Amino acid sequence: MEEVVRLTPPINKGQIERLSAGDKILVDGFIYTARDMAHKRLVDSLPDLPFPLEGQIIYYTGPTPPRPGYPIGSCGPTTSLRVDIYTLPLLAAGLVGTIGKGSRGLAVIEAIKKYGSIYLVAIGGAGAFLSKKVLASELVAYPDLGCEAIFRLKVKDFPCYVGIDSRGNDILQVSSFEGIERERTLVIIKPDGVSSRLVGEIIKRFEAEGFDIVEVKMVHLDQESAGHFYQVHQDKPFYQGFVAFMSSGPCVVMVLEGEGAIKRVREIIGHTDPKKAAWGTIRRDFATDIRYNIVHGSDSPATAKAERDFFFGPDQRV
Ligand code: TYD
Ligand code: MG
Repeated sequence: MEEVVRLTPPINKGQIERLSAGDKILVDGFIYTARDMAHKRLVDSLPDLPFPLEGQIIYYTGPTPPRPGYPIGSCGPTTSLRVDIYTLPLLAAGLVGTIGKGSRGLAVIEAIKKYGSIYLVAIGGAGAFLSKKVLASELVAYPDLGCEAIFRLKVKDFPCYVGIDSRGNDILQVSSFEGIERERTLVIIKPDGVSSRLVGEIIKRFEAEGFDIVEVKMVHLDQESAGHFYQVHQDKPFYQGFVAFMSSGPCVVMVLEGEGAIKRVREIIGHTDPKKAAWGTIRRDFATDIRYNIVHGSDSPATAKAERDFFFGPDQRV
């Protein structure tokens, strides 16, 4: 049978060090609830907090009101990324564990390593089930926030997994399972994407998939540089017309970083011919013509590097 580790706050660093990403955990004893509003107030009031953080766990949840006779209503985990900006100062102030849902930003992962803390993930969408693990609930601070106030919950057998351990191992990264590396790729929002005011929409799609923008700028390519960028196609019948289009207006050029970025970004962009592109891809949703297909993505590690250098390297051409 799978081994289960029991944690009862306050937790010390020695206990944390023994935990590894993927371990199954049952929490007993007391944990504190807080969502983003309560986090903002906690951070604003540092170092005078309404409860001692040392060795404690904060659970990202806003429980619904209890039914008569029950200590708490539904109390599923909320998305952790929302509280990321407040997590660093709280870890620095002695908070040891957090429980939430979904991945965390790079800065939080670094802070988890630095302060030797732990991020636990609870089962999303299972609020009613999780409420059965709560024996009692007591208001601690900020009653005007309603269900987003801070409550101290007494829990028994509260189930979660170690999402990120104190060494930074992270079960929420695709690479943990598939050996996919973080990599960088070059994306161009072409003149038709810019003139159709799709820059925000396109960037939103990449960010929603977890990619980080590491470099970005707007450029208006001239014929020569557009021709050079697409020189592998110089013998193709579409080359002249396509180069004219690429130099017809400004582009937004960016380097995106993330797991398997080169392949994934091209999947999100879709087939060169928008009519053949899969539903939900950028080209399928916004383009109709193979020449005016809105966005470019590098197709291999070698081209990703060369294309990045073309726009952002020391000898950048534009
Ligand atoms: P290609 O590298 O084949 O496609 P992708 O952008 O998906 O990597 O072609 C580069 C660009 O050339 C393409 O995005 C649009 C233009 N093009 C045409 O105008 N007509 C065509 O028939 C093809 C194949 C491409
Ligand atoms: Mg190509």
